[in-house]
Amino acid sequence: MVAATPTSGFGRVAVLYGGMSAERDISLISGKAVLQALQQRGVDAVGVDVGADIVRRLDSLRPDLAFIALHGPGGEDGTLQGALEFMGIPYTGSGVLASALAMDKMRTKWLWRGLGLPTAAFATLTAATDWEQTLAELGGSVMVKPAREGSSLGMARADTPAELEAAWREADRLGGGVIAEAWLAGEEYTVTILGEQALPVIKLETDRGFYDYEAKYLSDDTRYICPCGLTAEREEALQALSIEAFHSLGCSGWGRVDAMADSAGQLQLLEVNTIPGMTTHSLVPMAASAAGMDFGDLAMFILATARREGWT
Ligand SMILES: Nc1ncnc2c1ncn2[C@@H]1O[C@H](COP(=O)(O)OP(=O)(O)O)[C@@H](O)[C@H]1O
Ligand SMILES: [Mg+2]
Repeated sequence: MVAATPTSGFGRVAVLYGGMSAERDISLISGKAVLQALQQRGVDAVGVDVGADIVRRLDSLRPDLAFIALHGPGGEDGTLQGALEFMGIPYTGSGVLASALAMDKMRTKWLWRGLGLPTAAFATLTAATDWEQTLAELGGSVMVKPAREGSSLGMARADTPAELEAAWREADRLGGGVIAEAWLAGEEYTVTILGEQALPVIKLETDRGFYDYEAKYLSDDTRYICPCGLTAEREEALQALSIEAFHSLGCSGWGRVDAMADSAGQLQLLEVNTIPGMTTHSLVPMAASAAGMDFGDLAMFILATARREGWT
C-alpha cells in the first residue's frame, strides 16, 4: 500500500539519537536500529549521540539530512527542529510548532476540544485546585499526567481527593504542568501515521492497571493485537480521526496517535507522539509490518519525508 522509496540520493544522513531526556535509553536503541537499517540500504548514514554541543557537532559534520530518533524534551519538542531550521538541514518528522504543541498534552487537548475532536474531559491541576470538586467533576476516577513527559512517566490513577493531591504532587516534580483526565475504562489503540496515510490499528492489552513504563518496555505480558478486532468501519473511522488529530496540530511526516475507548465505547484521543519508538519491538515497526513494510522499508520511507519548514 505504501510506495517503495529510492535508496540513493539522500547524501550524508545524520541519525540523531540518545539526547538528555528521561527517554535517552529508548532513543539509543531506536536510533541505532534506524542507523543500521539505513546503512544496510546503502545510505551514507552516521550516528550522532546528541548532547549540549549538538549545534557545533552538526556544523562540522554538515549532513545533507537529519533523521531525528530522539524522544522527549530536547529532541521531540521543537527545540532541535528550530536549530536545524537555522542551520538549513532538512529533518524527518514534524516542524517546530507541531513538535512543541504535541509535546504538551494540555495544549493539545485544548486545541482538540476547540475543534470538537473527541478527547476525555480534563482539568489543569495546581496547588490551588479543589481536589474533591475536581475529582467529582471528572467522574470520580482520573489519570494524573505531567503535561510534558512521555513513556507514562509520573502518571498515576486517582480515585479519592487525597490520591489526586498526592499524584499531582508527584507529577508536579517533573515540571511543565499537570493535568487530570477522566478515567477511560475501555480498550486502548494506537494508530501509526506515515506520510498522509494511517497504517493498520494496533490494540494494546496489559494486565497492569494501564500501559505504564513497565508494560511498555519491560513486561513480557503486554499484548499487541493486530488486526485490532474493531469492525472495518470502526477501524477506518479511528484511522480518519487520527489523521485529522495529527493534522490539526500541524504534524507531518510520521507519528503515532494514541486513543482509548470510554465506558460507552466512544473513542477518545489521548496524544500524538511525533517521534515514536523505533526499536525493532516498537509499535510503529509492528504496524508497518502489518502493512507489508519491513523495518528497512520503514526507515527509508521516513527518511524520504525529511524537509524544512523553509521560512528563510
Ligand atoms: N484517561 C485515561 N484513562 C485510563 N488510562 C489512561 C488514560 N490516559 C492514559 N492512560 C494510560 O496511560 C498510558 C500513557 O498515556 P499517554 O497519554 O499516552 O501518555 P504517554 O504515552 O506520553 O506517557 C496510555 O497508553 C494508557 O494506557
Ligand atoms: Mg502514549
